[in-house]
Amino acid sequence: MQKNIYGLLSQASGYISGEEISEKLGISRQAVWKNINKLKEQGFVIESVTNRGYRLIKTPDNLCKLAMDGYLQTDSLGKNAIILDSSPSTNDSLKALASQGAQEGTVIAAREQTKGKGRLGRSWVCKKDESLTFSLLLRPKAAPAQVSAVTPLTGLAVCRAVRDYYGIDCKIKWPNDIIVNNKKLVGILAEMGAEFDAVEYIVLGIGINTDQEEFPKEIADKATSIFIETGKHTDKNRFLAVLLKYLEEEFMSNGECRLSLEGDKLELYKELCATLGRKISFFRGSEKISAFSRDIDSKGELLAEDEKGRIFTVNSGEVTVQGIY
Ligand code: BTN
Repeated sequence: MQKNIYGLLSQASGYISGEEISEKLGISRQAVWKNINKLKEQGFVIESVTNRGYRLIKTPDNLCKLAMDGYLQTDSLGKNAIILDSSPSTNDSLKALASQGAQEGTVIAAREQTKGKGRLGRSWVCKKDESLTFSLLLRPKAAPAQVSAVTPLTGLAVCRAVRDYYGIDCKIKWPNDIIVNNKKLVGILAEMGAEFDAVEYIVLGIGINTDQEEFPKEIADKATSIFIETGKHTDKNRFLAVLLKYLEEEFMSNGECRLSLEGDKLELYKELCATLGRKISFFRGSEKISAFSRDIDSKGELLAEDEKGRIFTVNSGEVTVQGIY
């Protein structure tokens, strides 16, 4: 019922009377009033004026299913989004659903995470309503070795979305951190469930620092947020819907998940990649190698050359980029 009332309020050009809502939806005026109050509790700002009725002033900034669904413009991703007040880790929650057969495109987003996970076994802190934190389920029909492009493609989609939506000059730190002025704005953690020759699912977890006004001293020189960069708070429902549209563009083709980083996508990825042309270091076994990052291939691998002219393909582990955190 709240969905229908929100629908009428958002379509109305100004006020809509309680009487009109009650007639259109076949419910009592009392029920209209009760449901309007429930919408207000979720963060919708609704003005009520005697003899005129109700007027929608603002949808909530914090995650709320009704508002997110209202903004969604995708064909499949996020169509059955689950929005939680709190989750230990949206990746873990979605992996549990994936093994029970949840469909491709399922999204779990949470207003806070209590045991958020980062890459390489690190933790990822998400205080309530300070970040946009969600996971997306993909089911590509491919072998594990054929899906390595999922990581750079995710970085590409998120980087494009942040640039277009906020006008922030962000870049990709290979393979998929999003950075602004050398500080981290977005972290991405892709996890996979697979048999030897077939992927069962990929869970893509994305954490975007949206509303933090400052960071603890220990990470203040390494992390930034949309608020710090723009001075504005984020409508997380609208931005989640925007992100899902960009992710759909990168991943889906004729309703199928196709993970390919070729042609224009690869070129754009390289243009936006802050790691290319920089001095990097990484470990090969126990040897620490210093090299220049020269190129990225269609598998999303980084090609680096050291001073002796040796070429390395870097495809996992931690790369340190000179000048970036
Ligand atoms: C990193 O840069 O280390 C990756 C951070 C990934 C964080 C996201 S937030 C949503 C999803 N759920 C998690 O527990 N982690 C990812």
